[in-house]
Amino acid sequence: MPATVLFAVPALWDEYRDHLPTALSEAGVDARVTLSADPDKVDYIVYAPTSHIDDFAPFTRARAVLSLWAGVERIVGNPTLTQPLCRMVDPALTEGMVEYVVGHALRHHLGIDAHVLAKDGVWRNHLIPPIARERPVTILGLGELGAACGRALAALNFPVTGWSRTPRDIPDLRCLSGREGLDAALQGAQIVVTLLPNTPNTANTLNARTLALLAPGAFVINPGRGTLIDDKALIAALDAGQIGHATLDVFRTEPLPADHPFWRHPRVTVTPHIAADTRASSASRVVAENIRRGEAGEPFLYLVDRSLGY
Ligand code: NDP
Ligand code: OXD
Repeated sequence: MPATVLFAVPALWDEYRDHLPTALSEAGVDARVTLSADPDKVDYIVYAPTSHIDDFAPFTRARAVLSLWAGVERIVGNPTLTQPLCRMVDPALTEGMVEYVVGHALRHHLGIDAHVLAKDGVWRNHLIPPIARERPVTILGLGELGAACGRALAALNFPVTGWSRTPRDIPDLRCLSGREGLDAALQGAQIVVTLLPNTPNTANTLNARTLALLAPGAFVINPGRGTLIDDKALIAALDAGQIGHATLDVFRTEPLPADHPFWRHPRVTVTPHIAADTRASSASRVVAENIRRGEAGEPFLYLVDRSLGY
C-alpha cells in the first residue's frame, strides 16, 4: 500500500507537484502525494510555516513532519507535535546562502557603494579597500549554513572566526564556542554574519554590549533571524558610527512594516527574506530520502532536537 504524503503547503504546490512525485519515484518509494487526506490516514506531512495545520494530534499514524524550512522556530514548540520533526538541509539552499553572504560581504569589503552611488564626476582613487586577509570576519553559527559561508570566505583569504554552541573543528576557521567564546569571537571583527537559529538562547546575541566589541565601522549581515539582534541597539550603533552598515534579510515582524526605521536608515540595506530559498527540485529529493528512510525503518536525516529548539 502506498504511503500517504500530505503536502500541507498549498501555496507551494505548483512548484512541487512535479518534483516531489518524481523524487519519490527516483528514491524507489511507493507513495501518493496529496493536498488533503483524513488525518488518521496520513503517513508523512510536508510542512512550512504557511501550512494550514496547527494541530498535529489527529495525525495519529504520521511517522514524521518534514519541514521545507531550515528554521523551525514556528513549529518546534507546538505542544500537539509528537511526531519526529525534520528540518530542511538543502544543498541548493546552502549554495544560495553562501552566494548571498559572500556577495554582501564583498560589497562592504570593497566599498562598492561608494562607486555605485558616486556619479558626480569626482575621481575618488584614494578609496582603496584592504585586501581580504586584513579584514577579520566572524560568523555566529557554524551549522550547515554558517560553516559553508565561513569556508567560502576563508577561501577568499578572509580571516574567519566562527562561533557555535558546542565546539566545532573546521579547517581554515578559528572556531570558538559557548557563552565564554562569544566576546572573543566578536572582538575586533570588521564583518559579522549571523546564522544562528531563533531560540530563547540566541535572542539579542548582538546587543549594545556585544556590538561595542566589534571594530568601529563594522558591517553586520543578518540572514539568520530578526530576533538575533536588538533592533534599537543596532540603530543606536549605526547612528554612532560603531556599525558602518547593516544588511538585514530577516526581521522580528515579516514583512517588515513600511514604517519601520530600517527602511529609511541610510546605512541599512533591507532584503525581504530572500537570502536563500528552498528550491523545489533539490528539496524534493531531501524530503523523498527521508520518506524512504521512514519506510525502510532507517533513522531520519536532519532531526530537530526539541529540547534545543533547532
Ligand atoms: P544549523 O542548525 O545547522 O546550525 C545552527 C548553528 O547555530 C550551529 O552551529 C549551532 O551550534 C549554533 N547555535 C545554536 N544555538 C546556539 C547558541 N545558543 N549559542 C551559540 N551557537 C548556537 O542551522 P543552519 O545553519 O541550517 O541555519 C541557520 C539559520 O539560518 C536557520 O535556523 C534559519 O533561522 C536561518 N535561515 C535563513 C534563511 C534565509 O533565507 N534568510 C534560509 C535558511 C535558514 P552547534 O553547532 O553547537 O549545534
Ligand atoms: C528557512 C528560511 O528557515 O527560509 O528555511 O528562513
